[in-house]
Amino acid sequence: MSGGTRLWGGRFSGGPVEAFDRLNASLATDQRMWAQDIAGSVAHVSMLVTCGILPGEDGEAVIRALAQVHQEFATDQFTPAASDEDIHTAVERRVTEIAGDAGARMHTARSRNDQVATDVLLYLREALVGQLAGLRRLVDALLEQARQHVDTLVPGYTHLQRAQPVRLAHHLLAYVWMLARDRARLVQVRDVSLMECPLGAGALSGVGFPIDRARTATALGFARPTRNSLDSVASRDALADYLHAVATLGVHLSRMGEELVLWSSEEFGFVVLSDGFTSGSSMLPQKKNPDAAELARAKAARLIGDYAGLQNVVAKLPLAYNKDLQEDKHYLFDAVDTIDLLVPAVGGMVMTARFQPERMLQACEAGYLAATDLADHLVRLGWPFRRAHEAVGQLVRSCAERGVGLGDVSPAELAAAGLAGITPPPVTAEASAEAKVAEGGTSRERVLEQLAAAEAEVGAW
Ligand code: ARG
Repeated sequence: MSGGTRLWGGRFSGGPVEAFDRLNASLATDQRMWAQDIAGSVAHVSMLVTCGILPGEDGEAVIRALAQVHQEFATDQFTPAASDEDIHTAVERRVTEIAGDAGARMHTARSRNDQVATDVLLYLREALVGQLAGLRRLVDALLEQARQHVDTLVPGYTHLQRAQPVRLAHHLLAYVWMLARDRARLVQVRDVSLMECPLGAGALSGVGFPIDRARTATALGFARPTRNSLDSVASRDALADYLHAVATLGVHLSRMGEELVLWSSEEFGFVVLSDGFTSGSSMLPQKKNPDAAELARAKAARLIGDYAGLQNVVAKLPLAYNKDLQEDKHYLFDAVDTIDLLVPAVGGMVMTARFQPERMLQACEAGYLAATDLADHLVRLGWPFRRAHEAVGQLVRSCAERGVGLGDVSPAELAAAGLAGITPPPVTAEASAEAKVAEGGTSRERVLEQLAAAEAEVGAW
């Protein structure tokens, strides 16, 4: 590495050994923030000129050079050298090549510590725009499927045992509410966590020039500068908030993925996933594998790992900046990239999935999903619930022994279970679902009400 590209050569007589250089360099990771780094420098240099810290002509020369470097990056004409330690070094080197001494003044009243803390916030803010839009498309796909399947009944499960029938719309809306909470967390990241600008904190203690921090904060779209210079360069809370939010989102998509894997199996047959989101087997010609759903299931591990990784890097660090913090971007970018891949794929998979109402209905009626409804019926006749539960349990056992459904019980069986003279209500899945009239339940009216509430909420996003 030539001494010219190092930002801190003066103090050192010998250069670093190659093994250290390779460990220390973050360019390969942080190069993707080139546009944010340039934007931060433009705001900083303009402020320096306004505050009389940098002569106007130097400022103009630097800003012209920054515009040129932007253009060079955008058109692939400038590729940082492997010897540029990080993106900040690369941009400053190139600006100085273009603007000479004026360029060498750009870093006045700034440290890479406050610079990098600012760049990542700008990067994340921009990434969130597309991610929130992708999340919206996924939720819209769920809502569209829910509208199509208000009258489709599917077994609801506990312990993965058929429990009670629910409307498929009700099941899909469960995910809509999970994702709505995920969105609220991401909006909180955007509107609160990302709102304070660290620029102007310097290396750790602040800056000894009469800078105007509010000016750079506003120019870069922040609400205000951070309050404490140490906190500004030492904290990565905004990143942690984002990683926490997407880890939870990942958990939700993982559960959805698992259900789509199960439901698309021959054993369930509840859904046919579109060819576009499945793959074949190189050996078994009949196979259609739900790869997208499986990957949705797996990516949660990665997102949770990214959150845990960042927090583990920050924990135990003494204030203020430590080089450990350079690792923050590894976790942040991995999560950003994972969400960018995952959410559109899940959205497309949901949109193109073909649910199978007949198979679902068969599954509802094959089990004893109306058993609780029969017990509820007895309760309405005045039975204590616990006794009703016992009697219906006996009835289910004798039906199961004969291999018949609750709709086929004989008067003798009713009598044997202590239910002589009882006329069981219709035991259809539809009647069972319709009985769940309390708020948040799966009766048609309640589901339509829930769907309208979800549409209203999502419509306001
Ligand atoms: N590449 C560094 C990072 O990503 C930039 C800050 C380095 N600061 C320093 N004093 N070495 O954290």
